[in-house]
Amino acid sequence: MKILITGGAGYIGSHVAKQLLETTGHQITILDNLSTGSTATLDTLKRIRDFTFVRLDLKEFDKVNILLQDNKFDVIIHFAASIVVPESVENPLKYYMNNTVNTTNLIRCATDAKVEKFIFSSTAATYGEPTEIPKNGIDENYPTNPINPYGMSKLMSERILQDTAQADPNFKYLIFRYFNVAGADINRVDGKLSPRIGQSFPNATHLIKIASECAVGKREKMAIFGDDYPTVDGTGVRDYIHVDDLADAHIKAIGYLDTDPSDIFNCGYGKGFSVKEVVETMKSATGTDFKVEIAKRRAGDPAILISDNSKIRTKMNWVPKYDDLGLICRSAYEWERK
Ligand code: UD1
Repeated sequence: MKILITGGAGYIGSHVAKQLLETTGHQITILDNLSTGSTATLDTLKRIRDFTFVRLDLKEFDKVNILLQDNKFDVIIHFAASIVVPESVENPLKYYMNNTVNTTNLIRCATDAKVEKFIFSSTAATYGEPTEIPKNGIDENYPTNPINPYGMSKLMSERILQDTAQADPNFKYLIFRYFNVAGADINRVDGKLSPRIGQSFPNATHLIKIASECAVGKREKMAIFGDDYPTVDGTGVRDYIHVDDLADAHIKAIGYLDTDPSDIFNCGYGKGFSVKEVVETMKSATGTDFKVEIAKRRAGDPAILISDNSKIRTKMNWVPKYDDLGLICRSAYEWERK
């Protein structure tokens, strides 16, 4: 098959590209504007197996159209997007343009070029600030109600995909709503973790990335954003999923769409950890120590987000391999040490 990965030089896209290059014989094309994606990552991927790289911004509608017309891709896996929640509050139009408008055009080009499968990276931010977390976590039928433009830009793209598939029987989609993605390539050399790719996004805002930067000494200290939430220890609770397990779901999605209908799946482990628990795990799993301060709440942060992942487990037979917060922290730390 011919597969186009947009945002394939980025964090999650590169882990999906890695698995496709390593475990399948599909012909891979990566499209990336390299605004946050890294050329070093592309070089590493090239050492696994060759692929085509196209440096292009999705806002260049005509060029995207030509690329799709020329290549006749079977599958598009679409990651390219802006993802910083506070930035989306300050600059919503950037998010609606980069995420919703560019995705709409990509879908238009895809249907024009008769691409049959479209796999889309969405987010738990589409659920907004859940008023009450069901006992087994948030399932896919939980009402969506984004509280920031980032979440809304993704939810609008979801809807556009659904409407398009409704009108075009040859076009199928799979939407993944990611919970908190973390960690780096589980690659072992002489039995030791040695990630080849990881999160290189500059000016990180993600908890595990920041904690790993502290653990390796790139940052002197970090802040916990609020310790007065209604949670076990007052700090925010999230469902952290290892990026390789998430990538695996995308590979499964390609075969799944051969036989099954378009659908939406949560991607998480269905377990919550507080910020304090994550920080303690980073310290204990890596044998490091660093300074942590309590700061005020960060705008737009819900108290608790935990997935109900029974749908993806039962319908897609997805079985996570790295459901271990210590391993997630260690892989992030080993990547940061490189
Ligand atoms: C958010 C989005 C998620 C999106 C991701 C992309 C929501 C609800 N979630 O995840 O969908 O995919 O961004 O960027 O909008 N924290 C600290 N100190 C830090 C950093 C974080 O205490 O230095 C805390 C946060 O307050 C939060 C938790 O750690 O409670 C996780 O934060 P983060 O890693 O930034 O991810 P989310 O905001 O949950």
